[in-house]
Amino acid sequence: MDSTPTTYTLALLPGDGIGPEVTAEAERVLDAAAEALGFEITTSEHPVGGAGIDAAGDPLPRATLDACLDADAVFLGAVGGPDWDAVAPDLRPERGLLRLRARLGAFANLRPVAVSDALAERSPLRPERVAGTDLLIVRELTGGIYFGLPRERTATEAYDTMRYTVLEVERIARVAFEWARKRGGRVTSVDKANVLASSALWRDVVARVGADEFPDVALEHLYVDHAAMEVVCDPRRFDVVVTGNLFGDVLSDLAATLPGTLGLLPSASLGGRTGLFEPVHGSAPDLAGRDAANPLAAILSAAMLLDSLGEADAATAVRQSVDAVVADGPHTADLGGTASTTDVGGAVADGIALLTLT
Ligand code: NAD
Ligand code: IPM
Ligand code: MN
Repeated sequence: MDSTPTTYTLALLPGDGIGPEVTAEAERVLDAAAEALGFEITTSEHPVGGAGIDAAGDPLPRATLDACLDADAVFLGAVGGPDWDAVAPDLRPERGLLRLRARLGAFANLRPVAVSDALAERSPLRPERVAGTDLLIVRELTGGIYFGLPRERTATEAYDTMRYTVLEVERIARVAFEWARKRGGRVTSVDKANVLASSALWRDVVARVGADEFPDVALEHLYVDHAAMEVVCDPRRFDVVVTGNLFGDVLSDLAATLPGTLGLLPSASLGGRTGLFEPVHGSAPDLAGRDAANPLAAILSAAMLLDSLGEADAATAVRQSVDAVVADGPHTADLGGTASTTDVGGAVADGIALLTLT
């Protein structure tokens, strides 16, 4: 019998601000999960964003991209920050991330938001409204106004183009309907079809894909302004929410009000051969360098990474350990505690070892 453990290669892109701090904790937890479940992860670290600009004059250096294209999975901390706000628009740290998503073909960005009873008690919203929320935002990630051309700024005006093709909408709609089949059987498609041509096309295509290929899944359409109100007032009405790149960006930060912090929201960006895993939050310049950021969003992104590798038991162990830390602490300041980033990462890693021993 072959006893060589399975080995995965992981490209780690810590990035800027709190990115390196939360990435270190995600890596620690991945190592603990691999050790406990008997597989191996070989990591290599590469600069991206502001760190890429500083190291190689490019927010996505060639060597970083090549390592990502070769890896089994990519983990990214966060990019951006005030040090690079003055660089040319096409050289900004954020452009590196957008290019990486495009080059990986990562068109489907999954952003789950779940609110346990323990979190509901700490929510800035009424606990009885948010407890039990369990929704999945499926955000289109490589199209729409983030990528549409023409796009220009002159001395006197600037414009972007919100553009979607039928094929782009069909493929993201299928991802959303497939997830609904595995979850609560409902899809809410969010657009601005009463104003935007790209949204009118979006709505028609989602409706057709639903009727033709997923008649068993309930589909509703909401305008994005109405959807924003419902996310706050009645989040439990949602199962899978499918939407375009810009609306999904805004709605996912809005949904962070439900658990009460961006420090808990993970994401997976899928579609190509290699998945990209990153917390929803940014580089949090206000917290950077203070060992104060919540690493759980990064750690839960690592759990999604393990799922994508087929290591479901390891992913479950990570999530169970995170649930225990959310319920009993230690907690960083965003959850009302005084613990550090490293305290929380250490508690999750220790919890995995304990869980898998019992
Ligand atoms: P941000 O997400 O960095 O921070 C928003 C707020 O949430 C801040 O108050 C911050 O302290 C808090 N927060 C974020 N992450 C947290 C964590 N892990 N624990 C506790 N609190 C946390 O958004 P911003 O301030 O608008 O942007 C800062 C920089 O990050 C910008 O350069 C922006 O472009 C970039 N950004 C990058 C990504 C990414 O890399 N995926 C995502 C969003 C923003
Ligand atoms: C996110 C971020 C990015 C986005 C930026 C940094 C390019 O806000 O991942 O949500 O807008 O997609
Ligand atoms: Mn965002």
